Order: sequence, then structure tokens, then C-alpha cells
Amino acid sequence: MSLQDALRDRAQQLRSELFDFLRIPSVSARSEHAGDVRRACDWVVEHLAASGLEARSVETAGHPVALGSWHGAGPERPTLLIYGHYDVQPAEPLGLWTSPPFEPEIRDGRIWARGAADDKGQLFLHLAALQLLMETRGRLPVNVVVLAEGEEEVGSENLLPFLERHREELSSDIIVISDSAMFAPGVPSLLLSLRGMAYTEIRVRGARSDLHSGAYGGAIPNPATELARILATLHDPEGRIAIDGFHDGIVEWDEEIIRGFDDLPFSEDTFRQSVGAPRLAGEAGRSTLERLWTRPTCEVNGLLSGYTGEGAKTVLPAEAMAKVSFRLVPDQEPARIVELLRAHVARVASPAVQVEVLDIHGGRPWRATPGGPGFEAAREALAGTFGREPVVTGEGGSIPIVPEFERVLGARAVLLGFALPGANMHAPDEWFPDAHIEKGIETLVRFYDAVGSPG
Ligand code: BES
Ligand code: ZN
Repeated sequence: MSLQDALRDRAQQLRSELFDFLRIPSVSARSEHAGDVRRACDWVVEHLAASGLEARSVETAGHPVALGSWHGAGPERPTLLIYGHYDVQPAEPLGLWTSPPFEPEIRDGRIWARGAADDKGQLFLHLAALQLLMETRGRLPVNVVVLAEGEEEVGSENLLPFLERHREELSSDIIVISDSAMFAPGVPSLLLSLRGMAYTEIRVRGARSDLHSGAYGGAIPNPATELARILATLHDPEGRIAIDGFHDGIVEWDEEIIRGFDDLPFSEDTFRQSVGAPRLAGEAGRSTLERLWTRPTCEVNGLLSGYTGEGAKTVLPAEAMAKVSFRLVPDQEPARIVELLRAHVARVASPAVQVEVLDIHGGRPWRATPGGPGFEAAREALAGTFGREPVVTGEGGSIPIVPEFERVLGARAVLLGFALPGANMHAPDEWFPDAHIEKGIETLVRFYDAVGSPG
């Protein structure tokens, strides 16, 4: 049977397998889900083994890694490292989901579930492509190593030591990752960049405990006010990050690539309306795509202080906390950014309060140079399936292990994403286009074939 026929024949079965995977609430951030995270890892291992790959799970200091390999294509063929993550973001707030996050269903041509796009649905495309190839041809066109981790959504902190320990076993020529989105429906893209991350927490402390805001207010410092003051110094009036030294070492993009962004089918107004924001905002003098793909950011991700319940409570809070993260661009180093933030906060904070900056996690940014065998294979595969040349784009999100893979393994990464903009990754009502199950698998088979027989 041809792979095309198998794909058609197996439509129902593929979905039912994917749905089993999506039903496992593998939320890496929550310790009460540690058992579910492990089950998702085992699920991947079993799938790989059922396809005829050698597969096992490997313990780390955190969640386990699912590892599979097949080297039957022979030493003259390249080895592809397929990376994905089987962990998902927390699904809260549950009340905002149209259907429950871990009860996948298809409506309006979309598969709705936490992880449908990020990343179980896309990891599954690789698992299914490998399985169908093994079934229909009895072999793969390339040697493969499959690595699925369970900590991507919490910063991949344990994967780097894993990489270094298993460097030999992971040795490969090209790394392929499907954990991103196409530029638009029907418009596939080749990703040239990912931003890095420095995630911090700023804690401000005043009195020993909460106080009556009348009996003490005016004479005792207010940590909430002081935190707000600190946060307000992080950007200048032009929307530029105002931390000394923050922009040092940023490598500007190739002019030609930036000019190419202007030719992309992108409307700032449609983009703005898609999220229902009254206006766009950001660094002055930069287009929206430049802001998203080529510039660093500083975002307050969460704020906590004082009384936030019903009605009023006249309290002078004892502490205030903000989660503050930075998206980084080459060659900003996460650890250095945290040091610069510490120096900045120490300079601007009132001596009346105690301030602490915690380093939560970090990941380096990544940028690719277009061209090379992996890139060309991806172009050919996407064009073959979607009937048009992929556009060349950047990405605002982060996949922290990508630059580490390239460094440790000495191979280049290709990002082949099949989700669509507005997929609600990390948000309620996450979805993946149902038609992209077949299209994704078809593209990946073309990609593996192209990598296996270059030229
Ligand atoms: N799949 C995303 C990265 C992504 C998002 C790619 C949007 C393309 C479009 C990934 O799972 C993710 O969310 N990464 C985190 C990493 C962080 C925890 C270090 C992110 O970007 O916030
Ligand atoms: Zn994610």
C-alpha cells in the first residue's frame, strides 16, 4: 500500500491515537501531574517501539526524556534528530474553555485540546510519519533519533545536562522541530529565529506583616507602590528597555531579510483586531513584525500584592511580587540580563524597602542562516505539500534547547511548524487544524525523503 493510501485509510485511527495522547494531562509545571507527565512519556516510548524503533525513557533530575532511534538507513545516509515536547502548559482558567482541555474534540475543522498545537499534536505528526513509513516501506529514508522531553514549558533546565551526557547517542546531522506555526492558513514558513528568555521574580518587602493602612500609612513604606515604581522604570517613553547595558551585543539582522518582512501577507490592523486590543504598542520606529521577531522585550507576567478580593480592605501590604520576563535576541545572554536587572533594581529601588531579584529560568536566543541541506529539504517538502513556496519568517516565542542542540551536537536546526496563528497556545481553547494531520505527515515524509537523498 502506498503511503498516501495508508494515510487515507488510517484517518480515523490516527485521530484516535492522537486523542489518547491529548487526554493525558501532562502539565509539567504542576507537581500533582508528575504521574501524568510520566504517562505521556511512556505513551511516546510505546508508540516509537510499536513502529519498530528502539525506544526507552531516560530519567533526569526532573521529568523523563523519551528517546527512540533507528539507524537502519546505513552510515552513508544522514541522521536526523527529531525533537518535540510531550509536556503542556496548565489549562487554567478552565471556565474559559468551550470544551474541557483534556477531552479532545473536533469542531469546525479544528482539534480542540490543551497540547493540540503545543506540542503533542505536532510531535505526533513525526511519530505517525515514522510509523507509516515503517509500515509501508519497512524502513526509513534516514537514520533517526527521536527525543521528546517533558520540561520544555518550564524552561528545559534538565535537558542541557542530558544532552551533554548523551552527546554520542544523539549525534546527528540535522535537527528538526515541529513546535511552531505557519505564517498564515495555506502559507507555510521557514523559521529563521527564536527569541531567548530570562525569567525573573522581583520581590519587595516592607514591614514584618500587613498593617492597618490608616494607623501606619504615610509613615511606613508601601511595597506595592515601590514595586510599581520599579516596574515603571523598565521602559523609556519610547517603549525601549531602559536597563543600562541591556542592548549591548545585539546583532542586527541582515537588512535584506528585514526588508523581506514587508512583502509578507500581513496586516497590522487584522493582527490588532485578532486579539481585540485597542492599539498596537511597542518600541518606537519598528514595524510589528520587527518588534515581534527581532527585538527583545520586557514583560510583566504577573503581579501580586495586598488585598484583591471583593469590596475594600484598608491594608498596607507587607510585600509585593512581580514575575518579569525578558525575550532575548542574539547575542544576549540570559544570566547577564538578570545581573543587569539586579543592578538596575538596586539603583532605582527606594532604600525604604528590601528588594530581591530571583533568577527563575533562562534560555538563549537562536537565529539561523538560510540555506543548507536541512533548510532546502524543508522548503521542498513544504512547497510540495502546500503548493506554494514557504515564506521566510522569524518567531517571537522561545524553544530554549535549540541553540544548545546546535552547539553541543554541531548540527543545524530546521523548524517546521504546522499550527496556525491564533492557535491559542498557552491559552484557553487551544486548537490545531484537523486537515494539518494529513498535511503535516505528508510534509514530514517528503522532508525525511529529501534529507535522505539530497540533490
Ligand atoms: N511552542 C512554543 C514556542 C512557540 C510559540 C513557537 C509560539 C512558535 C510560536 C513553546 O512550547 C513555548 O511555549 N516555549 C516557551 C519557552 C519558555 C518557557 C522558556 C515560551 O516561549 O514561552
Ligand atoms: Zn509552549
